Amino acid sequence: MAELRVDNLTLTFKGIAALLDVGFTVASGSIVSLIGPNGAGKTSMLNCISGRYRPDCGSITLNGRELLSIPAHRRTNLGLSRTFQNIALFKGLSVLDNLMVGRHRLLRYGLLASLLYFGPARREEDRHRRRVEDVIDFLGLSPYRHQVAGRLPYGVQKRVELGRALAAEPALILLDEPMAGMNLEETEDMARYILDINEEWGVTVLLVEHDMGVVMDISDSVVVLDFGSVLAQGTPEEVQKNPEVVRAYLGDEDSQFLGR
Ligand SMILES: Nc1ncnc2c1ncn2[C@@H]1O[C@H](COP(=O)(O)OP(=O)(O)O)[C@@H](O)[C@H]1O
Ligand SMILES: [Mg+2]
Repeated sequence: MAELRVDNLTLTFKGIAALLDVGFTVASGSIVSLIGPNGAGKTSMLNCISGRYRPDCGSITLNGRELLSIPAHRRTNLGLSRTFQNIALFKGLSVLDNLMVGRHRLLRYGLLASLLYFGPARREEDRHRRRVEDVIDFLGLSPYRHQVAGRLPYGVQKRVELGRALAAEPALILLDEPMAGMNLEETEDMARYILDINEEWGVTVLLVEHDMGVVMDISDSVVVLDFGSVLAQGTPEEVQKNPEVVRAYLGDEDSQFLGR
């Protein structure tokens, strides 16, 4: 279960609203995409959910629990995990270690006990390794497991970051432009991974993405942000037909569904 509700959310920077009275719902088990031009407030929205930004007012609930009164690191314990628009990996660590760090919140016996490798800590370590191995297999990262993350090709780093988020066993995952800078093949692979995470692993997904082909293809619902406000929300078909969205995004008849 991972139903996310955002209500009347406003976030300002020095009096300027990055988000203004935003409200939308991510149904448990769904893939919802948050789209809009650069500067519309998409990343700010994810930052409010993950706890990096503190909104001025409003409410964000996960399964009915108010997140805004819970510090960021504890929101992870509620099953919230994310990736970043600019890759945030430990560049000097191996792929395997990056994924193990992703499990940090679940390490009951702590890093020291795990390193000493005794008794319950050892059994716990084994459990963590198994989950991490599952993620490595799922994302096709086996060939890179012992390689230093920072030296891997960009597309692979994006996958490692997804793996790190997935290793934490999230109920809800926030993805900030996971396809940005990828070629067509990498983009298609990433879309497949997101669908599988959702369908096979049962993870609810809130996706920020500029690739409209992918968004319209894999989303159950789309939320359109424009200048910090929700312009429209609905199924991909509804949003594409919405006159306000068309006016804001589709100039001439052959233009793509792109931001400004
Ligand atoms: N930390 C910050 N300090 C000041 N302004 C910010 C900060 N983060 C975001 N903003 C502003 O909020 C608006 C929305 O930015 P952002 O959420 O990054 O948009 P998007 O992800 O849709 O491109 C922009 O005008 C941006 O300049
Ligand atoms: Mg952004």
